[in-house]
Amino acid sequence: MLSRLRQAIEIVSRPRVAAVLAAAMTIFFAAADFTAPGEINVAIFYALSVAAAGWSRSRRLLWLMTGICCVLSIAGLALGPQPRAELVSYLYINRTFVAFGLVIMAAIMEQRMHMLGRLEAARDLEARQNALLSDSEAQVRATFDQAAVGIALSDLTGRFFQVNERLCAITGYSRDELLARRYQDITYPDDVERNRQLNERLIAGEFPHFRLEKRYLRRDGSTYWINVTSAVVRRASGEPDYVIAVIEDISERKRVEAELHRVNAELERRVELEVARRLEAEQSLHQAQKMEAIGQLTGGVAHDFNNILTTVIGNLDRIAGRMAPEDPSRRLAEAALRGAENGARLTEQLLSFARRQRLQPEVLDIDHVLGSAIALARRTVSETIELSLELGADLWRCCVDPAQLQSAVLNLVINARDAMRDGGRITIAARNETVAGNTSDLVAGDYVRLSVADTGSGMTPEVLARVFEPFFTTKQVGEGSGLGLSMVYGFARQSGGAVRIESAPGRGTVVQLYLPRTTMLPARNERTSPPPMPRAERPATVLIVEDEEDVRQLAAESLEEFGYRVLLAENAPAAVSVLERDTVDLLLSDIVMPGGMSGLELADRARRLHCALPVLLTTGYAEAIDHAVARRPSIELLRKPFRPRELGAKVQQMLSAAAGQ
Ligand SMILES: Nc1ncnc2c1ncn2[C@@H]1O[C@H](COP(=O)(O)OP(=O)(O)OP(=O)(O)O)[C@@H](O)[C@H]1O
Ligand SMILES: [Mg+2]
Repeated sequence: MLSRLRQAIEIVSRPRVAAVLAAAMTIFFAAADFTAPGEINVAIFYALSVAAAGWSRSRRLLWLMTGICCVLSIAGLALGPQPRAELVSYLYINRTFVAFGLVIMAAIMEQRMHMLGRLEAARDLEARQNALLSDSEAQVRATFDQAAVGIALSDLTGRFFQVNERLCAITGYSRDELLARRYQDITYPDDVERNRQLNERLIAGEFPHFRLEKRYLRRDGSTYWINVTSAVVRRASGEPDYVIAVIEDISERKRVEAELHRVNAELERRVELEVARRLEAEQSLHQAQKMEAIGQLTGGVAHDFNNILTTVIGNLDRIAGRMAPEDPSRRLAEAALRGAENGARLTEQLLSFARRQRLQPEVLDIDHVLGSAIALARRTVSETIELSLELGADLWRCCVDPAQLQSAVLNLVINARDAMRDGGRITIAARNETVAGNTSDLVAGDYVRLSVADTGSGMTPEVLARVFEPFFTTKQVGEGSGLGLSMVYGFARQSGGAVRIESAPGRGTVVQLYLPRTTMLPARNERTSPPPMPRAERPATVLIVEDEEDVRQLAAESLEEFGYRVLLAENAPAAVSVLERDTVDLLLSDIVMPGGMSGLELADRARRLHCALPVLLTTGYAEAIDHAVARRPSIELLRKPFRPRELGAKVQQMLSAAAGQ
């Protein structure tokens, strides 16, 4: 019912309806006024018409209807049925008042209409503003919630009071969980202090905003890199109100950065390794070249020395042999002989370093050799030194010169002893080792690694770099010749192995000797019979070919003394002419000679002239020559310096062998 009434009022309130209604009412009331006698209450009628016109909200209609009603009100009295005479003036006045009243009413209505219009305009404006506001609020909310970065508003203590979806996704917390926390609670502990300091300075107004890369501690405990940009929002008074923070996820960037860093570090490490490897290779090459050069020099000197010593020893031997045992000069000759023999031993060591000594390799069980070496070693070290032997199981066999091996081990033990003046421990160990790839000093293969370790003084890098050099020693004059390790080095290299040393001052020394494995079986231990007397068993002619006059002379005199006929030649071509002319039973020749033909070539040539001619070659060094000789039957080698007795025995042995064939 009420709603119908409101509907009706609304319809009537429409300007056109109100205008039509006002016109209709005016016509109706005017008709009534003009037809009825003048007592009708025109005031109410016309007031209703004006009110209806006023409802239309049209000022023009209002005033038009007010004018018409005023005119009609006064005209109705004159033109309509006449009232009683005594009422005329009253009605006349009454109708004038009605007209005035209508005008006042219209003025009031116009005023109201005006106010109503302004009110409505204000309402309209407010409604429009409200609509705009809610639109922009919705936009802000959508932007806040759907932003690709996290956004958080927090009070000055750091407690969140608004957070967006993205921040929830980044941290793993729900919105409610975040609103119950402070930024300090979700920041990685190590980063809290720095964040707090920046926040304090921001609130204090030191800067308008700050950026910080930090880690969040997510709900699941994992850490996450973010970049936070914070700014403070202030009230109109300038007081800080709250902090707004924009949070960007930079974990992917950090991951890439870390990966880049890792790759860079790896690259740097590889480059360093490669540089170190090259440096090491260069150093070992340099060391190898140096050792080779020293080896050649040493070998050359030792070779020439051997020739000299051959003469000296041979002649001294003969002098001593000719003297009566009680002759005092014989003692002198023997002393000189001993000195020369010491010289020969020195030359031997030099040759050994130069890898030019004549080795007599045998297939050996290393543990047997070490067993006897340690017995010798025990005698050389004092009681303050503990000596132990550690042998690996099933040691492989090696083909090396046993005497040289023993002397190498002894040298190493003595070095260790000298480095431990106040006692210590020496450990001699041997174990099998397979070298997988070629190295600067070893080819890949199986080796027995023999090591002598001590707990002594160790060596500085400078000493370590020079230990293999012949005559390098740090010992007092007379205490060391500096040939020990040179000999070990030469022996190992000549045997197909290598030596390596690890040492540092105060940390002791380990010397490792690599000896190549052999699969050959050890030869039966044949006792060599004592050398037979060198005296010639039957007349025989020996052709001696030697460029060194003294050596040639010594050999000739010795052999003549033993009863041989001797022919001499200074070089190979001269020897060939002797061979063509004379009958020779044995050719004794030096290997290295001037004249364009070596001892080996001479031997071949002699064999073509007299097949099956026994040939005895003498040499100061004999590495490659060993193999060349091994391929030729009836050729033997005699190492310089030799004693006349040795030469005689060898010649006799070869001649009787040739006669027996
Ligand atoms: N085990 C070790 N501990 C400390 N230093 C050592 C050791 N072995 C060798 N050295 C150093 O190397 C130098 C050379 O050694 P090497 O054996 O060649 O000669 P040497 O012992 O001085 O004399 P030689 O052995 O000829 O009597 C030694 O003087 C010493 O300074
Ligand atoms: Mg030594």
